[in-house]
Formats: sequence, structure tokens, C-alpha cells
Amino acid sequence: MNQDIINARVTFRNSPIHVLEKFTFKDLDDAYSHFKKHSGLSECVILQTCNRVELFGTAKDYDLEKIKKTWASLAGLEEAAFKENLELSENEEVYHHLLKLTSGLDSMVLGEEQILGQIKNSITAARQAKFSGERLNTLFDKAIQIGTRVRNSTGISRGGISVGSMAVKLAEENVDDLKTKRILLIGTGESATLVAKSLKKRAYEFFISSRTLERSKAFAETLGGKPIRFEEVLSGFDKYDVLFVATSAPYFLVTYDRIKQAMDTKQNGIMILDLSNPRTVDEKVATLPGIKLMNLDQIAELVDKNMRSRIGKVSAVENIISEELLVVEASMKRLDAEPIVKDVFKNIDLLRIKELQKALQMLGETDEKRVKIIEELTKAVVESIVSAPMNNLRKASEQGNPELLDAASKLFDYNKKD
Ligand SMILES: NC(=O)c1ccc[n+]([C@@H]2O[C@H](COP(=O)([O-])OP(=O)(O)OC[C@H]3O[C@@H](n4cnc5c(N)ncnc54)[C@H](OP(=O)(O)O)[C@@H]3O)[C@@H](O)[C@H]2O)c1
Repeated sequence: MNQDIINARVTFRNSPIHVLEKFTFKDLDDAYSHFKKHSGLSECVILQTCNRVELFGTAKDYDLEKIKKTWASLAGLEEAAFKENLELSENEEVYHHLLKLTSGLDSMVLGEEQILGQIKNSITAARQAKFSGERLNTLFDKAIQIGTRVRNSTGISRGGISVGSMAVKLAEENVDDLKTKRILLIGTGESATLVAKSLKKRAYEFFISSRTLERSKAFAETLGGKPIRFEEVLSGFDKYDVLFVATSAPYFLVTYDRIKQAMDTKQNGIMILDLSNPRTVDEKVATLPGIKLMNLDQIAELVDKNMRSRIGKVSAVENIISEELLVVEASMKRLDAEPIVKDVFKNIDLLRIKELQKALQMLGETDEKRVKIIEELTKAVVESIVSAPMNNLRKASEQGNPELLDAASKLFDYNKKD
């Protein structure tokens, strides 16, 4: 093996998020330029997300101390900080780790899609920083292809659903003809955003309300919904057929009395989905005729059940990864032969051109068509002689036969320049 591939990482698996944050690089361009100068790595890709900071690198006889020192100086840490938090993998282990990453097996939420995009962005940034080369580009391109295929063929990323989408799905399942119903969303925070996104995606019209009308208006501008005054909502629940309640109010907003009053005049029922914890809908409202109430525990349980279908797919993903790992290993080993192959082709071509020019001079040949024919002839002869041994060299490299590479280096007088 010409170069080792390593992966040094600090992730949510070993470090709580507040510790992990300390290892992040504030400025990626600056990080790339420092690693280029000081780490001893010949290639490098940085992967940084809210759950992980990872460094992929190649080097001949890498020096972990140099790498840690560069990382520590960039993040403003003592080198000792790595002791408890750093995980290190080499070569085949790195391929395996990256395949698990692109397939979503190493994510906090199994099978999540985001990581694949983050990995694509990382290799693009490394290419732009001119710090990834043949090895890491090949490895990342393969891992991205395999990760995409794994996700498509196993469905590990399917079935994931947010609490907000699940709440909307439950409303669809429990309320006939939801499109014609009056839907109200109370709350303009994170949880309400999940509900609004799902409503918008499925083209449901809805009203949005929050204590301050301005906040509802701002929410409506980006996430949809028709803003409505909070006071108006609290005194007029009879106007709605479906309520999504997602606030952090420390008391009941949807009280028994308010709903009872609404139901006194209302012809049809109300479905209420309380996404709040602590609850902001009084459970007692469920005793009123026509009221269907679902709380966060019930919604979250269904989300969890949904996620469990992903766990059932892990072994299928692992099987594909172990098959693909052999293909990745072969491709990476094949790269060991490339410098010799390129060198041989280059040297032989230089000889070919030199001999061709000599011959043309001796013949005094100037006719363009004839010169072209002779030139093509020399190329064909060289190609037919050199191609087979070079392909055999690549194959030997793929099969992990370094002896043949050494022999070829001696035969073709190739000196490694790394
Ligand atoms: N974030 C999630 O992914 C998630 C998932 C499941 C459940 N939850 C639960 O959903 C609830 C909201 O969480 P969040 O993350 O969306 O919170 P958030 O981003 O802080 O938003 C809180 C919302 O509650 C409203 N609010 C606060 N106090 C209120 C009060 N006294 N009366 C009326 N409205 C009030 C706020 O509106 P104003 O503008 O009027 O202050 C705001 O719209 C919490 O109970 C949480 O446990 C959250």
C-alpha cells in the first residue's frame, strides 16, 4: 500500500453535543489551509455536522500527533482533549465507516437523509480547497453511490416521519374529507413549524394563531396559514373542525369549558391533536361527545413505531455494505498501480514521439495524411504492447499482489515520488 487512509473523528457516539462543539472548525477554508501545511497529510476531507467532526486523510506513515496538534490549534483546544473523545480508523475500517455513514447506519436517527448531502458537500469543499486527490475522491464518490443505492434498495430512509407530519397524518385518517374542514394551528414555534410544513406540503388550508399577531403573520409568510387573533380563537373554537396545539404554555389553553361551550352550538365534532408537553389541552375534553383527542405521547408512540420499521432493515443494509466493501477495497487497491501505469505510459509515449520524429525526418515525410497514418501506427503498436501488462498490473493490485507492483517498478525503472 502506497498510502494509508485514516479517519479521525469526534462524534455524538463518544461525546455529548456541548463537548463535540469544542472540536468544530470555525472556518473551513482556514482549517484546510492549516491541515495542508502542518498535518503531514497528502489529502484531506473534513466532514462537520451537528453530530460529528471527522477528518479523512491520506499519508504515507501518517503522524497522529501532528494531526491532533493541527486540529487542537484550530479549535483552540489542549491536545489532551482528544484523549477521551477521538476515534481512529485506518484503511478498510475507514471504507466501512464511510459506507455506514452514507447509508445512514451511523446517524443518530437511523437512515436519515441529511448526512448523505453533508458528505457530498464535504467532498465538494475538499475538491475546491484542492486538498482531496485521487484516493479520497474515488473513495467518497464510491461511498456516495453505494449509500444512495443502499437507501433506494432497502428503504432504510423511508418511513421516517416527524411528530408534525404524524399529527397531520392522524387527522387525515380520523377526519373525513379533511380538505373541506376548517383547520387551526395554535403555536408558532418549532413544533408548530413541523405541522405547518406538513399541512402546506399536502395543500391543506389552515388558520394560524399565536399570542402575538405579528408572530403569526411572520410565520404565515414563510410557512403558510391565515393569521388569526389569539383572543378570537380562545372564545370561538366552534369555528374549527381540527385543532393542532403546539405551544409551551404552562397551563391549559384548550380548556373543558371552552370546548364545551363550542360544542353546545357546533353541529359536527372536533379532532384535537395536542403536541405540547406539558399538555395544553385538558384531557377532560375527550369526555365531551364529538371530541376526539390525541396527545403527544400517543403521536410520539406512532412516530417511534414508524422508525422501528427502519431497524428491521439494518441487516439488509449491512449485507449490502459487506458485499460492496470488497468492491471498494479492490478499487482502492487498484489505485496503487496507477502511478506506475501512468509513468510507464508517459515514458513510453515520450520514446514513441522521439522515434517517430526521427523516422519522419529520415523519410523526409511532410504529407499530412501520410504522417498521420504513421503516427497512428506507432500509437497502435505501443498500445497493443503495453495495455495488457498494464491491465494485469492493475488487476494484480486489485487482488492485493504488491510483489508484482514491486517487480514492475524495477522493470520499468519507476521511482515512487511520495
Ligand atoms: N420542537 C419539537 O420538535 C417538539 C416536538 C414535540 C413536541 N414538542 C412540544 O411542543 C411544544 C412547543 O415546543 P416548541 O419546540 O415548538 O417551542 P417553541 O419553539 O419555544 O415555541 C413555543 C410556542 O408556544 C407559544 N407559547 C408559549 N407560551 C405560551 C402561552 N403562555 N400561551 C400561549 N402560547 C404560548 C409561543 O408563542 P408566543 O409567540 O405567543 O410566545 C410559541 O409559539 C412544547 O410543549 C414541546 O414540548 C416540541
